[in-house]
Parts: sequence; C-alpha cells; structure tokens
Amino acid sequence: MNTIIKKVDYINPKNDEDVFLEAASIIKNGGLVAFPTETVYGLGANALDPIAVKKIYEAKGRPSDNPLIVHISEISQIYPLVKNISKKAEKLMRVFWPGPITIIFNKTDLIPSETSGGLSTVAIRFPENKTARYFIKKAGFPIAAPSANSSGRPSPTRASHVKLDLNSKIDMIIDGGYSEFGLESTIIDVSSDIPCLLRPGSVTKEMIENTIGKISVDKAVLEKLENGERPKAPGMKYTHYSPLANVTIINGEQENVISKINSLIKENIEKDLKVGVIATEQTKGKYICDNIIVIGDRNNLKEIASNLFISLRRCDNLGLSQVYAEAFNETGIGMAIMNRLKKAAGYNIINV
Ligand code: TXA
Ligand code: MG
Repeated sequence: MNTIIKKVDYINPKNDEDVFLEAASIIKNGGLVAFPTETVYGLGANALDPIAVKKIYEAKGRPSDNPLIVHISEISQIYPLVKNISKKAEKLMRVFWPGPITIIFNKTDLIPSETSGGLSTVAIRFPENKTARYFIKKAGFPIAAPSANSSGRPSPTRASHVKLDLNSKIDMIIDGGYSEFGLESTIIDVSSDIPCLLRPGSVTKEMIENTIGKISVDKAVLEKLENGERPKAPGMKYTHYSPLANVTIINGEQENVISKINSLIKENIEKDLKVGVIATEQTKGKYICDNIIVIGDRNNLKEIASNLFISLRRCDNLGLSQVYAEAFNETGIGMAIMNRLKKAAGYNIINV
C-alpha cells in the first residue's frame, strides 16, 4: 500500500482544506489515517466501524484485548457513546478538556467491542491540537486512535517516526509538526467511587486531586506487576516504549549517578559494546562516552517529557546496545516520565 504523507498548516488548518477532505474521505471509506495530537501521533479509524478498527490492530501488530481511545472534537459527541457522566467526570471535562487527559466511562452499544477490547467501558479523549480537531470534525464521527507506532516501540512525536514504523501499512499520514507534550495522555477511571489513575501524563495527579479530591493510583503505574497481576489499563501490561538497546536507569544523588555510569561505561567498552547515556543539560559533559543523548534541562520536566521518546529513538539511530539513563523525581510530570522510562528499561534500575 502506498502511504500518502501530506503536511498541513497546524496553526491554521483551514488553509489546507483539500488535505483534510482527502483524509476525511479515506477514513469515511474505512481506511487508516495517522494524525498529530498534542501528546503523540495517533493512528485513526472510524471508532464506530468494527472492520475499520480491526485494521488498526493489524497495522500496529497490537493484541486485540488492548482497547483503543476514542477521540472527539466537541463535547456534544460524547453523549451517545457513554452511559452516564458522574459529577467528578463532569468536573474533569470542564477543567481539562480539550487537553491531554483521557477519561474512562461505561460505554453504550454504539461502541463496538473491537474498539473497547471487549470491555464494557470506553476511553474518551478530547484533544486540544488544532489539526486533530479539524480532522475529527471533517470525518464527522468519533475516531479511535492508539499511538501511531508499531506495538512495543516508542510512541511517535513526529510524522517521520510514524513513517518509520508504519509506512506502506496505512493509507495516510497528516504531518502537523511535532507533538508538544510528547507523552501519551493521562488516563483516569472515574467509574468507581474513588477515581483511579491508570496512566500518568501531563495532566498530573496533583492537578487532578486539586480538582476532584483524592484519587488512587493503579499499581502498574509505579512498579512492575507480579506474574498474574493485571493492570486496569490492559495496554500497561505490555513491554512498551523500548528502544532496541538494553536500557538501565541509575537513581541517586547526581555525583553518585555520574560515577556509577562512568564505571559501567568502562565495563561496556572493555566488552566492546556500543554504549550511550541519556543525560541532562546539567551532566552532559561529565561522562567518558562518545554517545551522549541530551534529554533536556533537569529543572524543566516539561522539556524532558517532550524529548523522552525521541531520545529513546535516538538510541536506535546510534546503534547502541547498552544505554544508561539518569532517573527523575516522581512528582508532577516526573511520575509520567519515570513510568515510561521504567518500562523502556524493563524496570532495570540501579540505586546508588
Ligand atoms: O495521548 C494519547 O492518549 C494517544 C493519542 C493518540 O491520543 N493515544 C494513546 O493510545 O496513547 P494507546 O492505544 O497507545 O494507549 C491507550 C491506553 C492503553 O494502555 C489501553 O489499554 C488503555 O489506554 N485503555 C483504552 N481503553 C480503556 C478502557 N476502557 N479501560 C482501561 N484502559 C483503557
Ligand atoms: Mg501506545
């Protein structure tokens, strides 16, 4: 299949009306279109069409029990899709939508079980990104979209990443620049009395608690689950975000981290392994290593979040076999950064 790739004016999408009409026509005919959102690029199909949705699973190589997020472009689109909207959900929608947070509701029959991975609930997201919203609006129906990467690979924050993973497997990629936040949306389940955070993101636990009070955090967010334990978001059980290299996180005081990584670098070089470090602006000059990937300023976690997946992809571009990454504080967006980093590292963490 030939994958059409078209750039659009992401500040004023109306200037590229013809591209959006082409994309809308493809998705209306049951095709797959990747599009940018403020979190990561999504791979879209008509959320209400089980045959179209199945194609998403095939293109990504995604297990069919892993439900998809349904994207809308205006609030009124949610009512036919969900059974009830609790007071807390309503508050979250009012404060954070449109934006990088996904909310889980009980679904109506309009959502096919292919979209919800066989669950009785559905995840709904109202993105802020103008290209995403204009595309959904032109399609005229809600769009199911997982991150537009091959299953298990880091999520794409640029159209070029989507092309690398999915070229010739999907109909079209709308290139609307880079994804500002760079980490997938926060996911919160408000269907029970105490809302539960299933995936941390740029809308932080602290921001949510300031809005609706105390929430719980699914165990899978913070640590590796034991055999047989299940995360509440099925997708959190899969190894995810991994570059091809082996990633190890080093956690501790900065000076200790630097000296530990330097001694590990020596060991790798002696074994003839190509080694790299995911370092920060503060530490980039302190490692005895040629392959330094600077993820950003340690004091600007928003910048670190937005560079995380591209940094993991760089490990592959450099052909590294071992990568050491500095740890970050798990407060605010730090919780989301460490959640993705720990998964990339297969929970391989050395405390120093
Ligand atoms: O930022 C995002 O959310 C991006 C953009 C494209 O919107 N999408 C995204 O989708 O990250 P995906 O498929 O890569 O991740 C969706 C996660 C999976 O872990 C899935 O298991 C979980 O959401 N999920 C979806 N529906 C659910 C449901 N009804 N109950 C619990 N978890 C659900
Ligand atoms: Mg994903």
